[in-house]
Amino acid sequence: MRQYIIAGNWKMNKTVSESVTLAQGIVAAVKNIKKTEVVIAPTFLAAAKVADVVKGTNVKLALQDIHWKDQGAFTGKISVDMAKEIGAEYIIIGHSEQRQYFHETEETVNLKVKKTLSAGLKPIICIGETLEQRNGGKLESVLRTQIVGAYKDISVEDALKSVIAYEPVWAIGTGVVATDEQAQDTQAFVRSVVKEIYGEKVSEAISIQYGGSMKPDNAAGLLAQKDIDGGLIGGAALKPDTFFAIIAAAEAR
Ligand code: 13P
Repeated sequence: MRQYIIAGNWKMNKTVSESVTLAQGIVAAVKNIKKTEVVIAPTFLAAAKVADVVKGTNVKLALQDIHWKDQGAFTGKISVDMAKEIGAEYIIIGHSEQRQYFHETEETVNLKVKKTLSAGLKPIICIGETLEQRNGGKLESVLRTQIVGAYKDISVEDALKSVIAYEPVWAIGTGVVATDEQAQDTQAFVRSVVKEIYGEKVSEAISIQYGGSMKPDNAAGLLAQKDIDGGLIGGAALKPDTFFAIIAAAEAR
């Protein structure tokens, strides 16, 4: 049975003090959650304080991005050592907002995935198509390019430590969620590409999250699909009760 992972991507939301309050609310809400891995990704600025809140609890810390160099003159960036020191376990890589607004490419995604794995952290590799690409019949080629690019020169052992988040761009922050069937079909395709690269054992072991307008009222249906192993949640992760409702749906599987 694959690990279910529900991760909250807070994006550019919450001040430091608001982040601490939200993290405390989530820690309290999920204390009896046993099977589902619960992850939160605050801003860089709030991460160290949030790390203190989640230390010793069943909530894991993620960062929203990383740079692939160890240190140096890279204004505005964060290194894996910095992430590790505060206890981050996951790094979100290649989010569509990074790809869309901040020049993320297949190559930089791959560099970040390698760096994250070399530091013993787990990458959450985000992939997804725009509506234009889907309607233009490019869904599979776009996803294949993103997957092949992200995993270039990554060993089987390392691939097993990674997580994939399939996030259709048209569903992110729009309230337009993929139907259970659309999400399942696409996620099965994603898993088939992983199988082509690494074989069935790896493809059956890797957790593939769905992201894009996942909410308490649609989570159970999505999470019941056989190739959906959790969620990467934006808006609904910003309140303990809505985030918890999604986690509870995963836990009930
Ligand atoms: P929403 O849940 O707000 O659509 O965001 C999804 C997302 O981009 C998570 O990374």
